[in-house]
This record gives sequence, C-alpha cells and structure tokens, in this order.
Amino acid sequence: MRAAQPVACVVVARFYLTTPIFYVNDAPHIGHAYTTLIGDATTRWRRLRGDDVFYLTGTDEHGLKVQQAAEANGVTPLEWADRTVERFKDAWRLLDIANDEFIRTTEPRHYEAVSALLQACYEAGDIELGTYRGWYSISDEEYVAAGDVEEYRSRGRKVVEMEEENYFFRLSRFQDRLLSWYADHPDVIHPASRRNEALGLIKGGLLDFSVSRTSLSWGVPIPWDPSHVTYVWFDALTNYITAAGYGPPGHEDEFARWWPGTHLIGKDISRFHCVYWPAMLLSAGLEPPKDWYVHGWLLVGGEKMSKTALNQIAPADLVADFGVDGFRYHFLADCPVGPDSDFSYEAMLARYNADLANNLGNLLSRVATVVGKQCGGVGPAPDADSPLAETAAAIAAAASAAWDEVQPSEALAATWQLIRATNAHLEAHEPWKAAPGPAVDRVLGDALEALRIVAVLASPATPGTAQTVWQRIGLPGAVVDQRVPAALEWGGYPGGLTVTKGAPLFPRLQP
Ligand code: MSP
Repeated sequence: MRAAQPVACVVVARFYLTTPIFYVNDAPHIGHAYTTLIGDATTRWRRLRGDDVFYLTGTDEHGLKVQQAAEANGVTPLEWADRTVERFKDAWRLLDIANDEFIRTTEPRHYEAVSALLQACYEAGDIELGTYRGWYSISDEEYVAAGDVEEYRSRGRKVVEMEEENYFFRLSRFQDRLLSWYADHPDVIHPASRRNEALGLIKGGLLDFSVSRTSLSWGVPIPWDPSHVTYVWFDALTNYITAAGYGPPGHEDEFARWWPGTHLIGKDISRFHCVYWPAMLLSAGLEPPKDWYVHGWLLVGGEKMSKTALNQIAPADLVADFGVDGFRYHFLADCPVGPDSDFSYEAMLARYNADLANNLGNLLSRVATVVGKQCGGVGPAPDADSPLAETAAAIAAAASAAWDEVQPSEALAATWQLIRATNAHLEAHEPWKAAPGPAVDRVLGDALEALRIVAVLASPATPGTAQTVWQRIGLPGAVVDQRVPAALEWGGYPGGLTVTKGAPLFPRLQP
C-alpha cells in the first residue's frame, strides 16, 4: 500500500463587502459614486488576491421620503422606485462597477428576511409596543429630540411633530452587551476615531428606538401586527443579511458562507451601522458584522451635496470630460478614505493632466515608440538585476498593504512612484539616443516590466486602462486573471512580445 501523501491545503479567504443601499428619492451623485467606487476597487483587489468575493450594492426603496417623492410625481412608490433604480444601475454600469449583486428592498426575499429578523427580536423579548410623541425628521427618516429640532431645521432638514403607537426595539438593554462585544473585537471600526465615536455613543446611554409606523403604508408589514409597517432603517440594515441568504429555509449554508460581512459606509450613517445594527443582530442570535470602514464626506465648495443646496454633481457629467478611468482615478487617488475631501474641478483637471496624461500616458507612449524604433516593435525581456527591481518590490509591498487596508489613495500614490521611477530610469539612460543593442534592450525591457507591474497594481482603480496597457505591451489574456503577490514579482514580462503604440491613453485636457 502506498503511504498517504500530504494534501496541499489552499485556504481561500472570503470577503463579503457591502455599500449602503441608496435612497431612490434622488438621482445618483458623485457622493454615492465615491462609496461605490471605493468598494469596487477594494473588491477588485481582493479578487486579484484570489479571495472568494461577494460585492453587494443596492437601493433603499421604502419610507416616507420615497412615498412623498412618488406622490409629487403622480406615480405609485413602486413605479417611482422602478424608475429611479435604473438610474443607479446605469451609473454603476457607466463607472465599470463590478458588483456581484444588486439588492432592492422591495424584493420578496427581503420582505422574508425583514420579517424573520423582526420575529426573532420579538421572540427574544427585545421588541415591545409603546407610544411615540415628539419630532420626526422626514429628511433623515429618524425621530429627533426636542432640543435638536432647530439645529436640524437650520440644516434644511424637514422636521414634523407626530404622535403614534410604535413598536420599540429595546436598545437600552444592549449597552453592556455592545460594550463587551466591542471590547472583544477592538479593531473592527476603521478609522479608530469612528470606533471611539461609536463607543462614546454607547457609553453615553442608549435610547430605545421605534421600529414601526402606523402613519405610513410604504414598507414591510410587522409580521405579528400588519397594521404597522417596519421603520425604514430596520428594514434597510437588514438588506445585508438578506443578500447573504438569511430568512428563507434552505439557504443556511449560503448564509454561513458570507456572514458576517464588511460594511463600507459614509460617516453620516455610522450610528445606525455601528450601534443599532449590531444590537439587532445580537438580539436575533446572529453575529455582528466582521468590520466597518467609514469614509468622510465629499464636499462641494465646502458643503455637503444636497438637493436643497443644488450642488449635486452627476457622475456622467464628469465622465464626459475625463473618461471613466479619469473619474475613477480622481476619486480614489485624491479623496483618502477617512477624512472629508473638497471636490474641485480644477484640482481634478490638474491631477488628470499630471498623473494620467503625463506620467502614465507618456511612459506608455514613449516606451512603445522607442521599442518600435530600436527593437523593431518587439518588447525585450527585463534585466533580472535591474536597479528598478528593488524599487518595484518595495512599491508593490506598500501598494498591496494599502489596498489590503482599504486605502486606495495610498496604493495609487505608491504605484505612481513606480511610474515616475521608470520615467527617470529612461531619462537617465536615454535609449532613444543609443544605437540598438543589448544595453537599449535592457532599459526598455525594464520599462515594460515596470508597466506590467503598474497595470496589475492599478487595475482595481482603473481596470479599463490597465487592460489597455496590458495589451499594448503584448501580454495575452486579462489583467483581472492575474494573481498577487506572484504577478508582482520582478521578471514576469517574458520579452519577445509585440508592442503597439495606439492612441494616447489620456489625451491632455486644456484648463
Ligand atoms: N438609505 C440610507 C442607507 C441605508 S444603509 C442600510 C442612506 N442612503 S443615502 O442615499 O442617503 O446614501 C448615504 C450614503 O451615500 C453615505 O453613507 C455615503 O456612503 C454616500 N454619500 C452620500 N452623499 C455623500 C457625500 N456627499 N460624500 C460622501 N459620501 C456620500 O443614507
């Protein structure tokens, strides 16, 4: 009998990432696109790493705001949602967003999941009937303390007085459980300042929150009392487990495969995500999310975009000027995940010309031109001992770490250092001046190899451009099929491939 052979065990990491689901009372703007792009680039990176990835986005279609937007347009809420949801889907198609699923809260599977979660919390004794008397912000879909009404109104929020019978989620019972869960999971909210903020809210004392309304009809009925519909935030948060398979029997394996997931959110909704949501899950006997990444706001002229400020910018308007990858590159490279960023057309233009038209565009066209002239259009192999090899290794390590930590701006800053180092290497050796021969071949082979590594590192941010670079330097197949870290090792460009010049990657734009 043959001795048993050791079995190689490949551990595939799972990565389930979600964006907030966007309200359909509004058209998509660059703030929505910013979140969705960060998620897209992050999941593209994880796919390059070979992870088992599930990227979810979608729309939040219930609640008063949608009901009112529909009424104002003379259609039913579902007709309104059907119409607006297409604008989100079109925007994500335009921006090359590779989400695996798109969830709508009006889908039957979501009604099932919301009912199951409510029922589980109710049976745990954490949902009880009470009366709400006070103020409600229609703009934020939340109750407002009397002392905060003026502040809300000063920000243009629509706040009305109301009294109604509600079911309440007994959040006040969860202070200790949440604190002890967070103590056991110390590094799950990024950046740490947002974790401290969430912990501050929990330590400051938690108020029960209402999970039902009788004053509106557009929502999921409370399963044990259909005269109430579910409060939009309870309904909306549940989308993350609906899409993972929670609710209907027979999907337990799928749910165990994906949950707990990772949430990407704007700072405006961290209280709902980092305080309410884990408490709801704990009540139902489910695990809280794996972790949260919280980004800041994209401001326009120093202000948050809003319908009332009339300062919303549609992604398509910028794509018309800068192209899809010009758009993607700007928001990923220039708006770090964490702090607020102020959008400026001038800054976007300057960065486009400097980084895309000049640095990357020139490098590719210069290398292709010189390979055409000096090497008959056939790309030579790189030098194993090239001085660029060490630079490339350090940059690949830094960019990989930044992608892993959901810091696209740092990953791209590192990647562009490699582009600059390669341009400098060419300028130092001036292969366009020397006679054809091994010395020229070495320098051009190094530049082609650097371009190959740049294509892999930049592909999560600018997938179309990365593929064009890949093809122009003669590499077969798709850059998305590469696997890191192997594809980042120096020496992968084989040489002997046809290099083509093609049209400028990013035509220079006039200010
Ligand atoms: N429907 C809720 C979320 C429910 S999630 C269970 C909602 N929707 S929203 O349409 O208002 O979108 C909020 C999210 O959009 C923010 O958290 C953020 O991700 C993104 N942004 C909207 N405006 C933004 C900026 N101006 N800047 C950055 N992100 C912005 O809240």
